[in-house]
Amino acid sequence: MSRSPFATPSTGTPIVAASILSADFGNLAADARAAVQAGAGVLHIDVMDGHFVPNLSMGPVVCGALRLPLPDVPQDVHLMIDNPAERIESFAAAGADHLSVHIEVLDDPRAMADAIHALGCTAGIALNPATPVDVVLEVIDAFDMALVMSVVPGFSGQPFMSEVLEKTSALRAAMGPGGHIQMDGGVAPASAGSCREAGCNVLVSASALFGSDDYAAVIAALAGG
Ligand code: DX5
Ligand code: ZN
Repeated sequence: MSRSPFATPSTGTPIVAASILSADFGNLAADARAAVQAGAGVLHIDVMDGHFVPNLSMGPVVCGALRLPLPDVPQDVHLMIDNPAERIESFAAAGADHLSVHIEVLDDPRAMADAIHALGCTAGIALNPATPVDVVLEVIDAFDMALVMSVVPGFSGQPFMSEVLEKTSALRAAMGPGGHIQMDGGVAPASAGSCREAGCNVLVSASALFGSDDYAAVIAALAGG
């Protein structure tokens, strides 16, 4: 397995994952670098196929384009697609360190975790707001991270759905202190505290971060600084 892109610092401070969906696509590498220099621990790359979600976004070429100028920055790829089995190899080859797949499209989540690990990536299992946590709890031991969606996936800039926090708490209780739990959607300084209290150690941010003119201040606020 590759290095974990979500290794928690010895301080226990949560990691902020900069979701480039709201970055400046005309200056993508420079904007991503600015987020990392401001304290983001990983780049979160949202892949949308127009089927699983009603939007199109990025493919493996974006991973490759960021890997060259930012060779040491972990890439956390969130696959919001119907057929992840057909795509994981190309994302791993393009430079992804971590691949998250949605439980809603998987017949055999454990086999998918094995396939991702065989490519040298860490594996995450994601669930939509409408999906009960029980199905993820049954397979979480096969994965390196749980990704709790706190918006209906498809777009950045949506409001945080606080009702998913109880799923996060259930996952943290089941996973113990060591597992990684990511919250994704509507995470902003106002909602980040409740995410941290529920047990999240990886906070994804697109619009709150890239919509700000002070990335470092937003990242510090998300991380609880
Ligand atoms: C939503 C994506 C999120 C999104 C977050 O479908 O999975 O990663 O970019 O955007 P914000 O932080 O603006 O809610
Ligand atoms: Zn995402």
